[in-house]
Amino acid sequence: MKIVNTVKEMQKIVDTHKKNGDRIVCVPTMGYFHEGHLSLMRIARDYGDIVITTLFVNPTQFGPNEDYQRYPRNFQRDVELASSVNIDYLFSPSVEEMYPDNYHTKITVSKFTDKLEGVKRPGHFDGVATIVAKLFNATKPEVAIFGQKDYQQVLVVKQLVKDLLYDINIVVAPIVREPDGLAMSSRNVYLSQEERNIAPEIFRALNLGIEAVQKGEKRRKIINSIVIEHLRKFPQFFVDYVSAVNAEDFSEPNEFHSGDKIVILVAVFLGKTRLIDNMITTVP
Ligand code: PAJ
Repeated sequence: MKIVNTVKEMQKIVDTHKKNGDRIVCVPTMGYFHEGHLSLMRIARDYGDIVITTLFVNPTQFGPNEDYQRYPRNFQRDVELASSVNIDYLFSPSVEEMYPDNYHTKITVSKFTDKLEGVKRPGHFDGVATIVAKLFNATKPEVAIFGQKDYQQVLVVKQLVKDLLYDINIVVAPIVREPDGLAMSSRNVYLSQEERNIAPEIFRALNLGIEAVQKGEKRRKIINSIVIEHLRKFPQFFVDYVSAVNAEDFSEPNEFHSGDKIVILVAVFLGKTRLIDNMITTVP
């Protein structure tokens, strides 16, 4: 695995590979790798010849009161973990490299961003769309792998690719969970022992919502309240949102219909830590 720090060098490398007919697969990340990230890198292998993981904690997707400064970072550990799954390149640019003259062009995706994360984290998806476009231009992939964990991010990235005519296939990888159901996240290290013990209740709450749908519940409000009620049993949670939505168009009908693919999305604060999770099902 080769570590690359500059856009110029990265572009030169991918151009050479492309001349040889190699297919490039990109896995964008902000590092502090866990098994979720590593699963994306393994899946990437199946989609091409050259796997590039990007590691960049993107300042523009964090709000002023969010955790950019304290976001967990450990470059040496990330290098070891990324090597262990046998990727070809780790693209790890500095902030100055990605935003040399600060930032005078931003990409705003106006579909899927007016709800949930888009409302709770104003500007977040502009930052995501802008950096993802820049990372695509630096790594020129045929395929890029994203996790279902950030469900709304996947829809935003797919819209970006469609609207800006990127010739890139977006592959969505399943959520990797701890044995107790907690979705893996770099932010899980923030949790105290007590918080960590309660965190899997998010998974249980989502399961209760999915079970209700499977048993015939189609009313959106009832599905939401089943999930919320479980979370409320634990006063340590502050519920930021719970929303069952149509998984394809993100619509919020009063009632779902048989055959609808739906996703239940949750964001909670546990102490100072904000955790998100989701689960998909098809209405029977
Ligand atoms: P980050 O949070 O580091 O996540 C990188 C990728 O790993 C994303 O596609 C995310 O959905 C996926 N991922 C995270 N936890 C996962 C889990 N438990 N199981 C499976 N996949 C998981 O998402 C970002 O970084 C940034 O917004 C980025 C796209 C890199 C732009 O800065």
